[in-house]
Amino acid sequence: MRTFGPRWFKQDSLMAEFSDNFGHAITRQKQTLALNAAKVEAELASKAKSEFIANMSHELRTPLNAIIGFSDMLMVLKISDVQRVNQYSGYIRQAADHLLALINGILDVSKIQAGKLVVDLQPVELGPILESCVLIIDAKAKERDITVSCALSPETPLLYADPLRLKQILINILGNATKFTNPRGKVHVEAGPGPENAVTISVTDTGDGMSASDIETAMRPFGQVDAGFNKRHEGTGLGLPISVALARLHGGTLTIESEKGRGTRVNIVIPAFDPARALQRPSYAQPTRA
Ligand SMILES: Nc1ncnc2c1ncn2[C@@H]1O[C@H](COP(=O)(O)OP(=O)(O)OP(=O)(O)O)[C@@H](O)[C@H]1O
Ligand SMILES: [Mg+2]
Repeated sequence: MRTFGPRWFKQDSLMAEFSDNFGHAITRQKQTLALNAAKVEAELASKAKSEFIANMSHELRTPLNAIIGFSDMLMVLKISDVQRVNQYSGYIRQAADHLLALINGILDVSKIQAGKLVVDLQPVELGPILESCVLIIDAKAKERDITVSCALSPETPLLYADPLRLKQILINILGNATKFTNPRGKVHVEAGPGPENAVTISVTDTGDGMSASDIETAMRPFGQVDAGFNKRHEGTGLGLPISVALARLHGGTLTIESEKGRGTRVNIVIPAFDPARALQRPSYAQPTRA
């Protein structure tokens, strides 16, 4: 039988003291690491915020300067110079439309970032929504000789979605597919039952395509692949990040598969309506970064 003399006791208490100290040291180290991580995270968030504000002021200033510049020119024009009057008022209208789109986009982004964007989830039939979006896009596509086709599986279940926000996602993705596809190109929409009680909507185009780093740029607020002086297309660069955040607010996803020069495929997955789960799901946003 083993007897415990004073030596054992001493060794036991030494071990206890050592493990106690060791435990405290680990806790202190963990607290320091957590504090550092929180500091870095706060610095990053504030850097992202200042970058966003700097970008935003730049983006707002461009159309505003156009409005001021062309109205100044209009003021000194002779009213008889009808052609120029029409031309300059057209530029002012374009800049004002762009400004409105920017402000709406910025409001959406800040609401999403603050976790305040509400999605009104309800059972939704995809057919009529898809049809109205394709009709809107088809008019623009025809001007550029782009064919838009659509295939909706009859097995598509009801979606659990906010109809207005779903339309916003589809119009942006279909609009992108048309905008970044050259004349005589093709845009195809396909929708049907997706994985795990969801619906997948895929938009494929035969357009410019994007490299992996282009996709990263495109997903960032104001990120445009052909930005700068050579910019060929209209837009604010907010549509994609907002669409990704909106898909997430629905409990779904939006992913991009693309290759430079080989077209793009955007997959939108939105949960199907499930009466049992719908009762448990909140219809308001969780904080999400756009
Ligand atoms: N289908 C596509 N093919 C090629 N490039 C694309 C496609 N979709 C998006 N992009 C690239 O991603 C960028 C960001 O897209 P996003 O929809 O956010 O902005 P936008 O279309 O330029 O402006 P808007 O805010 O009006 O939608 C685009 O400017 C474009 O460079
Ligand atoms: Mg867009």
